Amino acid sequence: MDYNDIVHERRSIRGYQQKPVPRELIEEIIDLAKRAPSSMNTQPWHFHVITGEPLERIRKGNTEKMMSGSAVDREIKMNHGYEGPHRERQIEIAVQLFEAMGIARDDKPKRQDWVMRGFRQFDAPVSLVLTYDKYLEPAAISHFDLGALSHAIVLAAWEHGLGCVINGQGIMQSSVVRKHACIPDDQSIMICIAMGYPDQSFIANTVKSVREDNAHFVRYVGFDGSSGVAGGGGVEQQD
Ligand SMILES: Cc1cc2nc3c(=O)[nH]c(=O)nc-3n(C[C@H](O)[C@H](O)[C@H](O)COP(=O)(O)O)c2cc1C
Repeated sequence: MDYNDIVHERRSIRGYQQKPVPRELIEEIIDLAKRAPSSMNTQPWHFHVITGEPLERIRKGNTEKMMSGSAVDREIKMNHGYEGPHRERQIEIAVQLFEAMGIARDDKPKRQDWVMRGFRQFDAPVSLVLTYDKYLEPAAISHFDLGALSHAIVLAAWEHGLGCVINGQGIMQSSVVRKHACIPDDQSIMICIAMGYPDQSFIANTVKSVREDNAHFVRYVGFDGSSGVAGGGGVEQQD
């Protein structure tokens, strides 16, 4: 597949065939993804590739905790809500997904059902939990490295006929994941990636998320040959 096609066609996959993913295929994907750059080539990541019984126990534990109203238990520091254009984009993708799934705004049971699917990692046959060594905390640059790695994984998976969704929901009860996946205490849980063969009949899998026009977030400096000094007109804006 052409790189352009992979990038443009990849979407987050939230419905999977209940078909096992061969370990060798996951290994090939990891071999490609680990070519991702990292700060000073530190490669600070660990992969915990989970399937079968342990993954079922994680789904069950996450569901029970979320249903009982337990507080979110994540290991990285998070903000407490998006604002402005970030919030608008967050709503936009939720509306796209709910419309595709026929979930009405006021249909609380169906909305709840969708959220719970997320906590089960969309019933994907495989979950990759990405961690980094705890001594690196505060680990902003390691977070960056694992972000680069995550994108490399989802692209490589797509190229190999597999779908993924990077998701925070699956590790929102990180102590459950840590326990059932036997994650060592000296690692911090960053994120997980659900993976499997896409269910082509699952309509949310067709949703194409929107990207902002470059003009809204890109500045070009010095391209007109000027000094770029503020006030000197050196910054070229696109609008
Ligand atoms: C760090 C991160 C966390 C995410 N967490 C979730 C999640 O918990 N649930 C979910 O359904 N999607 C999650 N996503 C997927 C995003 O919603 C998705 O990437 C975004 O809407 C763009 O859509 P696309 O991947 O189809 O291009 C997450 C993505 C990232 C990068």
